[in-house]
Amino acid sequence: MSDAISWKKQNLISIEHLSVTEINTIFSLARAYKKATDSGQSKFNALEGKTVVNLFLEPSTRTRLAFEIASKRLSADSITISGVASSLSKGESLKDTAHNIVALGADIIIMRHSSSGSSEYLSRTIKTPIINAGDGSHAHPTQALLDAFTLMERLGDVKKKKVTILGDILFSRVARSNIHCLQKLGAHVTLAGPNTLVPKAFEAMGVRVSHNLKEALEDADAIMLLRIQHERQTSTHFPSISEYKTSFGLNERRAHWIKPNAIIMHPGPINRGVEIDSKLADSANSVILEQVKNGVFVRMAILHLCHSAYNKCKIKLPK
Ligand code: CP
Repeated sequence: MSDAISWKKQNLISIEHLSVTEINTIFSLARAYKKATDSGQSKFNALEGKTVVNLFLEPSTRTRLAFEIASKRLSADSITISGVASSLSKGESLKDTAHNIVALGADIIIMRHSSSGSSEYLSRTIKTPIINAGDGSHAHPTQALLDAFTLMERLGDVKKKKVTILGDILFSRVARSNIHCLQKLGAHVTLAGPNTLVPKAFEAMGVRVSHNLKEALEDADAIMLLRIQHERQTSTHFPSISEYKTSFGLNERRAHWIKPNAIIMHPGPINRGVEIDSKLADSANSVILEQVKNGVFVRMAILHLCHSAYNKCKIKLPK
């Protein structure tokens, strides 16, 4: 990567807002942070003296911790507040909550919220950089970026590669962000699962929709499993978990359909024995924990870039 990095966006709301060049800039900086970290460096000074607030209004393990670790590695103070522990539970609006967080000195706000569009709304409400850590079933851009980063590490490039996303697509922000990100990078995306959760209407996004699991799996270079998002479903979309597992779970029998080197991915949390059997989740084909590890480096890059754009400061690469 050349020493001059050009970056103008202070917010990361969705993948649709990013160009291919910008996605590759994030990856280059993430790669530099990963290389420096793997060589033993644990602290970088890009966010020294800054305060990063994680406003997490839905549960999270990976995203929240990865942002906290990324902020700390960049020398920022990182503070997390949850919905139940905030005055939102006493009726305060999101707008007032955000204005108060800014008044308290936040330099970047990372938000997870159950409502689609909430991060975009916040970015229009306050001037502080906003990073979307998942909004309803709309978008989870940092997850899609770390997924593509992991795929590129394994495959070299995702251009013309076939990626099948299997599971609850209808309610999945991970699926939507991955469809946008993978397609921008030139991959061919197939969506698979029950027709109630993978409607043909998704074809309008330029993907292949298949309700035939064998057909969806056998030519895939990578298979991304998704859990059933019960928390977003207001009615049942299949008779029972056991029937979902029988019809669409990735098990050892179905593993015979996939290519020997096909990559198995999952954004987590995994429901072992439902969308994927343990043997496959823990197999040599699985990159699930690599995805988690890469989440820290990709988020370090995003924090660094958004902060630099807001403060109009030069981006210095980690040494
Ligand atoms: N992949 C993901 O968003 O996981 P968490 O809900 O644990 O953050």
